[in-house]
Amino acid sequence: MKSISEAKKEAALRAVRLVQDGQNIGLGTGSTANFAIIELSKRVKAEGLNLRFVASSYETSHLATKLGLDCLSLEYFSQLDISIDGADEIDPELNLIKGGGGAHTQEKIMHSMTKRFIVIADSSKQVKTLGKAFPVPIEIVPCAKSIVSKNLERLGAKKYKLRVSANKSGPRITDNGNWIIDAYFEIDNPLKLELELNKISGVLENGIFARIRPNAKDCLVV
Ligand code: A5P
Repeated sequence: MKSISEAKKEAALRAVRLVQDGQNIGLGTGSTANFAIIELSKRVKAEGLNLRFVASSYETSHLATKLGLDCLSLEYFSQLDISIDGADEIDPELNLIKGGGGAHTQEKIMHSMTKRFIVIADSSKQVKTLGKAFPVPIEIVPCAKSIVSKNLERLGAKKYKLRVSANKSGPRITDNGNWIIDAYFEIDNPLKLELELNKISGVLENGIFARIRPNAKDCLVV
């Protein structure tokens, strides 16, 4: 039986095999996406592929650059050929929760412009219903904390908390300079909740991916 780490790597390898010369590639964030970045760098070196990369976070762009994959800024792209990313939860309809690493806003922007959104994951990420164990990350403009909290209660959040930094006192700051609230919901309609959350003033983006989700053949779970 494969370890979680071996399963993530195998899923990443499968995704990287789909990449073709000349493509524009979106790089996701997280431990599973990191395996894909490592495997992509090996393919680029071994096969001399000519690819263009964009990263969904500083962490990803730092790793990619260290491995010799130069990342261009997402702002210059409106279409990508393939984007490869992990997920925190995947339900049977392939709705996702993402944002455990706080990068879901850029990830959603990136995956909204891709022809193929490839999700890579170990099987522990598969759930019957989203949100039973994992909260929905919500990136907010800091001054909206109280009004967003009030609206989360209106939408039925069972519990919510501001994500705090591990290495400094106070809130965890996203790559966009904002804060994250992690909110627990009973999620019976992921699309509806995704849209409702984004209607709250001060919410930049939330980590439910129901509007943008992978096709069945592009959800590579090992
Ligand atoms: C980053 O913000 C997230 O969306 C990640 O894609 C997600 O948390 C999966 O991360 P792992 O691959 O580390 O589990």
